[in-house]
Amino acid sequence: MIDFDAIPRAALPALLRRMPKAELHIHIEGSLEPEMIFKLAQRNGVKLAYPSVEALREAYAFTDLQSFLDIYYAGASVLLKEQDFFDMAFAYLERAAADNVVHAEVFFDPQTHTDRGVPFETMIVGLEHATRRAKAEFGLSASLILCFLRHLSEDAAFATLEQAIPYRHHFIGVGLDSSERGHPPEKFARVFARCRELGLHVVAHAGEEGPPAYIETALDMLKAQRIDHGVRCVESPALVQRLARERVPLTVCPLSNVKLRVFDTMARHNLPALLEAGLVATLNSDDPAYFGGYINTNFVETFAALPQLGARHAYQLARNSFDASFVDAAQRQRWVDQLDAAFTAAAH
Ligand code: ADE
Ligand code: ZN
Repeated sequence: MIDFDAIPRAALPALLRRMPKAELHIHIEGSLEPEMIFKLAQRNGVKLAYPSVEALREAYAFTDLQSFLDIYYAGASVLLKEQDFFDMAFAYLERAAADNVVHAEVFFDPQTHTDRGVPFETMIVGLEHATRRAKAEFGLSASLILCFLRHLSEDAAFATLEQAIPYRHHFIGVGLDSSERGHPPEKFARVFARCRELGLHVVAHAGEEGPPAYIETALDMLKAQRIDHGVRCVESPALVQRLARERVPLTVCPLSNVKLRVFDTMARHNLPALLEAGLVATLNSDDPAYFGGYINTNFVETFAALPQLGARHAYQLARNSFDASFVDAAQRQRWVDQLDAAFTAAAH
């Protein structure tokens, strides 16, 4: 038994940083730092709409999800070659390892690239190579999850799946992202059914800006195993009860939610209520290069703004990240043992 009450509040920031954790909601294109955007633009002869790194960073003042997505897709336009995808992913994985992330399940948006003429193979080979190198260099395990862009058609998603099938062994699952409002999960019911037949894991963004009904249809029609964001579930008490009963994980991203105005301030974030309701909530960075921080910054700023969160919640969030991952039970247990050791040491 870990004595959480023996861990002083002053020790929390260091413990949050030090504890082993999994990151389950990171868009690799959202890890593209302005410096890397400029470096790749120069390397590839791509003209950018901003004159400098500083000018680009200043444009990161978002009013909602769409205002972010417009800049995020423009930033991704510098990615052309296999080496570009490798450099982007390896930089993220190196940064994640420094935050004591031991496992990452990483989203990528193929349509953002294939629609610009980048071959599917170029992209996935570069990304996969980076995950292999990170395993060898840092011992960090990483898997890829292919996301369909929901503002495009289901036929376009089927065409992307067709292109992905030769590389089936390079990714573990599929997700659904991009503009949520007006694009409910049920729009993609047939393509997700096909993905499940292929043995792929299924996740979906739902209840970020969209209503709780989108969380329900992600579960019922896509058979989503995790909900990305999901914070608007609290508007439906029956849905909260269901998520708790069925132990459906939510991959919550607090800095993202504040930057995209889902919550006015961090102090108003509903993470404490989600944990209080017994939900399998996890904490993640979403698009760290755009939202002001990687996973440890998310942990430290969230706990600083919400005094009701303490060591017990820190442990629960890290524990949930392993329980919610698509990793076998034996490997999960090894990470949970490391987590227990970190908290037991902190309580002495
Ligand atoms: N793509 C990248 N980040 C996203 C987010 N927070 N919501 C939906 N789509 C995204
Ligand atoms: Zn996301």
